[in-house]
This record gives sequence, structure tokens and C-alpha cells, in this order.
Amino acid sequence: MAAPRGEFSSKLGFIMAAAGSAVGLGNIWGFPKEVASNGGAAFLIIYLAMAFLIAYPALMAELIIGRHAKANPVEALKVIANSDTSRTVGVVTGFAGISTACLILSFYAIIAGWMASNILASLSDMVGMAGLSTWFASDSIERSLLFTAVFMALTISIITAGVKDGIEKWCSRLMPSLLVILALLIVYVMTLDGAMDGVKAYLLPDFSRVMSPDLYISAMGQAFFSLSLGVGTMLIYGSYIPDEGNLVSLGRAVTIVDISIAFIAGLLIIPAMYVALNNGVQIYDANGALLAEDSLIFVVLPELFASMGGAGTFASLAFFVLMSLAALTSTISILEVPVAYTTENHKVGRKPATVIIGVAIFLLSTVLIYNFEVLFGLIVSVATQYGEPLVGLMMCIFAGWIFHRNELLKEIQKGHDGAEHGLFWKIWPNYVRFIVPAAILIIFSRKFFA
Ligand code: TRP
Repeated sequence: MAAPRGEFSSKLGFIMAAAGSAVGLGNIWGFPKEVASNGGAAFLIIYLAMAFLIAYPALMAELIIGRHAKANPVEALKVIANSDTSRTVGVVTGFAGISTACLILSFYAIIAGWMASNILASLSDMVGMAGLSTWFASDSIERSLLFTAVFMALTISIITAGVKDGIEKWCSRLMPSLLVILALLIVYVMTLDGAMDGVKAYLLPDFSRVMSPDLYISAMGQAFFSLSLGVGTMLIYGSYIPDEGNLVSLGRAVTIVDISIAFIAGLLIIPAMYVALNNGVQIYDANGALLAEDSLIFVVLPELFASMGGAGTFASLAFFVLMSLAALTSTISILEVPVAYTTENHKVGRKPATVIIGVAIFLLSTVLIYNFEVLFGLIVSVATQYGEPLVGLMMCIFAGWIFHRNELLKEIQKGHDGAEHGLFWKIWPNYVRFIVPAAILIIFSRKFFA
């Protein structure tokens, strides 16, 4: 007999886990980085539109399919398929999701490892071990290998413990800590000279940028990545929601938490850049553009911390703890995708499955670390610019066109008295059928025809 499936113990447990998945490096690093390089609030406005109008409906498709099928993506899409063809397409989509998840974890764990090694850099500074601190903050291959391994080991140990005792328990501990650290850091940064210039740059839109098609593509990619869509993570988390849970309100809560934390993280990072400017740190490149990519977190912020004296070491420690917590609740949600598939479809125990898959993905990360210049950016774009939107599109097509309409509506009604009188009921089923796939396709095709 197959082992019983895991389940979240409460609504709050699900929200912690799903928000833990959603809130990650994408919110605290990716989003502010995009804002900084794409015209401040102009990007923010387009991002909000993409998140609510495209990503949220796509999230609901994953949650509803997942809870209905109570299975991993490959199985779940098979369950709702209505013909041999759609069954085959479902299996292919499920595997595409799982593969995309493995690719995402392979690069995400490397960046997460850098965050963790910077915690040790700050601690070494505190005890006066400057040499060690320099090594922890260096960009050597050895450091990346070591800390990617450490991060993977942490991820594996949580996933091994299962849905309730691993994912839910740890997210319920780590997410509140993350919020407290984020709030303290913002309050602190706001007291520093220059912060208000950053707030202005963040909140005053440069509308000359709003018409660029690239902006829409970036904003959609960012919204999908941030809500952990298009790989099956949310489908699987949905499959662990008990039938009493109201999917509409749970999905809405997760979306609001995710978007709010991205917005709030912008209030930390962008003002911090302007404080750095005020302290004499270079924040513009030779062309006058803001230093955004890797240098934002690993050059501008460390220089800012260094310019702040003793307080800077504490700020640096808090910041990298924040990043590491955010990353850990996300990496576990990505590893759960291939693990859920393997335990359910191949009757392998959770522990061996987690260890074997975790080590295999670590080996993939090793290949990326050794061939960083050639492979890293490539894998990021294959996974996030192609894999996620296409799998996300297929999930919407399955929810809108293939899932039997009565079954779909019944799933929405579970745990939701009076669902049929709500706005979601009236709008979403047709919206996810026509508008979302069309919007994804249009935005996506601009890549090729723009
Ligand atoms: N959403 C997370 C972030 O913003 C990353 C993440 C977790 C993710 N699970 C995912 C991204 C699944 C894509 C797919 O950092």
C-alpha cells in the first residue's frame, strides 16, 4: 500500500508554506533589482497588474487542479485529462514542470549558498577574523561549492521530514522571523541620510519606460517566478490542502502576502542604495545606469555596510540572515516537486527519494559553478523565461479547457459556502480559459516578434 499523503494541518499552515515558497530571493533581490533597472514605479505598476491579472489566476489554476487530484503534477494532469491526447499532453507538461523545478533549484541553491556564506562573513567580522570574512565573501569556486552543499543539505533535511513536520513546521517558524528582520531593517535604513531620495526614486514612476514591451515580459516573468508558478510547486502545495480549506481565500492571501513583501522589500533595497550613494559608494555604472545585477547585493550593499562602521556589521548579518531564510522556505518548495512525483509514482520512500534527488541537483549546481560564465545565465533564462510561462500556460489550458467544468466548480465550492455568489465564481472560469492564455501567449510571442 502506498504511504498516506501528507496534508497541511491548518489554513495558516498552508499560508505559511505557500507564502514561504513565494517569498524568496525573487522578492527581496529580484524585484528591487528589476525596479532599479526599469524606471522605478513604472515597473512597480506593471508588475502589480501582471501579478493580479495573470499570475494570481494562474496560481488558482494550480491550486484547484492540485487539490482536486491530490497528486503530483504528472498524475494530477492525467486525472483531469479527458482523452488519450490530453493525457499525453498532461504527462509531458508534468514532466516539463518537474524538469524546470530541478533547473531552478540548481541555480537558486547557488545564490542561496552565497547568502548563507555572507552570514559567516559578517560573523567573522564581528569576532575580528578579517581573513576568514574575506574568504566567505569572495567569489571563489570552493566557497560556492561548499555553501551550495550546505544549503542543499538544509533543504534535504526539511523535505525528508515531510509535509507537516518538515515544510509546514519550518515555514511557520521561519516566516515570522523573516518579517521581523525585514521590518527592523527598513526602520533602520529609513533613519539614515539619503533614504528618502530612494523612496522617491522608488515611488515616482518614469513613464517614458512604460511602453517598452520588454518591461511587460520582465514583469510577467518576475510575477510567475515570485508566485512559484509554472513548475508544479503550487499544484503540489494545493494537493496538501484539506477539503475544508477555501481555495479562493487561501490563494488570495498568498498572492497578497507575496506582492506586499516584494513591495516592502523595495522599501528596503532602493533606499539602501541611495544611502550608499550618500555615503560615497558608487551606485551607477559607466553608462549612468544603476548598478543592478549581482553587484546590487554583493557589491553595493556590502560597501554600504562597510561605510556604516560597527552598526554596519549587524545590519549586514541581519540582511543575509533575512535572505537565507527567504531562500530556504523557497528551496524546500522546489525540491518537493520532484520528490512528490518520485515517492508517489515510483513507490520510493520519502527519505531516499529526497536524498538522491537532492544530491543529483547538487551535482547539476556543481556543473553550473564550474561553467558559470557559459551556463548560469542560460539555465536561468531557459527555466524562467521559457519553462515557467509555458508550463503555466498549459496549467491554465488544463483548468479552463480540459478539466470537466462541473468538477472544477465543485472543487471551488469545497470549503467555501456561497462560492457561487462570489466574484471569483463569475469571472475566473472564463477568464482562465480565454484571457490568461491569450495574455501569456501575446506577451511571450513579443520575445520573438518584437
Ligand atoms: N518564488 C520564489 C522566489 O520568489 C522562488 C521559487 C520557489 C520558485 N519555488 C518556485 C520559483 C517554483 C519558480 C518555481 O524567490
